[in-house]
Amino acid sequence: MKIYDAYRMGIEAGMARDLRPGSEVERILDDARAVYDSLPEDLKELYDEERLWNPYADSRFSVGAEKAKELDAERMMWGIDITSAEVLLADRLREKGQRIDAVIAHHPLGTSKTCFPEVMMQMTAMFSSMGVPEEKAYELVKERMEKVLRGMQGYNYNQAADAARMLDIPLFNIHAPADNMVEEFMVRKMKEDDPSTLQDIIDSLMKEPEARVAARCNSPPIILLGRPEDECGKIMVKMNGGTSFSKETYEALADAGVKTIIAMHYPDDHYETAQKAGINLIISGHMASDSIGVNLICDLWEKEGIEVIPCSGFTRFSRNRYDVEDRRCEHRRPGGPRAYVRVHVQQLQGLHEAVRCRAIGHRDDVRRWNTELRLQDGRVPGVRQELSDRSAAVRTCRRGHRRGRKDSD
Ligand SMILES: [Fe+2]
Repeated sequence: MKIYDAYRMGIEAGMARDLRPGSEVERILDDARAVYDSLPEDLKELYDEERLWNPYADSRFSVGAEKAKELDAERMMWGIDITSAEVLLADRLREKGQRIDAVIAHHPLGTSKTCFPEVMMQMTAMFSSMGVPEEKAYELVKERMEKVLRGMQGYNYNQAADAARMLDIPLFNIHAPADNMVEEFMVRKMKEDDPSTLQDIIDSLMKEPEARVAARCNSPPIILLGRPEDECGKIMVKMNGGTSFSKETYEALADAGVKTIIAMHYPDDHYETAQKAGINLIISGHMASDSIGVNLICDLWEKEGIEVIPCSGFTRFSRNRYDVEDRRCEHRRPGGPRAYVRVHVQQLQGLHEAVRCRAIGHRDDVRRWNTELRLQDGRVPGVRQELSDRSAAVRTCRRGHRRGRKDSD
């Protein structure tokens, strides 16, 4: 798959999970086409043509789009926030011999930075689905969106993009589509787990490996407002929409019967307003929740053979299921007899993923090593690829050697 096709796949996955009716998303694209067609030629060349197929202003291919249509995507680096530092990091890894085909950000940057608040209009569908009258929802979101949009105008939007351009590294970001993925994931999760109390919600969130990794870093999901034994009542999951909604929204949500909100994070001045409205607040965790959305896109790519190297706050964990796989590849250890490596790849549910590798020698020199590799960040597919590679298989056996496991049968 080409890099640009992978990007497009991520955007389209988000479109399939957009809370708005398909006709509304189509209307956004039609409006963009109408604007483009009406422009004189000298302004057409300035138009952001991605608007013609991508309805998310917060997600753009900022550097190297044309080249990315020709280049294969095999190994890309994805971080929640990409700055010039991460671009340099990618370049440094390339220098050290690692393959990095592109750098990906979750949060807007480059071409998507200044206009990103346009995606906030997605929140109207979220509030309407909770029972807020459509007109009221529109009014609340539009006012807040315009305020955020005004605030974005002074940003140095191209800092990381310029670094990528100078180092010739394709750079893009996927924000709303990944947030749409985690929104759908969380809504379904709450339906399935059907929590009664706020503590039940925390227990449900803590089942996810991203939340467990965050908990290890002292950032577990928390009850920001309410007591563990409080009934959660009607729950609103707020994972997408670009950024936080206005604090005036709490009253409208309370009128619609919402009792608990689960969001990645809240501005501090929301605390008192939510308390007055009698709404409980749960923080699902910013890095943990963003990681879930990003992971769900990485899982789609994984099936296409694309490996993602996580960085900058992103915890990679695959939800693709792999059956135990038994494959053999032949290799010859330096100076040693020919041997076979039988690789068992098994993805385990939970925080710990493991690949069991068993190398079996034959002829007179029968050796066997059982090596359990604890992987970081769910890189099971990468390991699969590595293990089918001869040199990596040798490395695996050497690791077994060092551990002194041999000749068990
Ligand atoms: Fe985020």
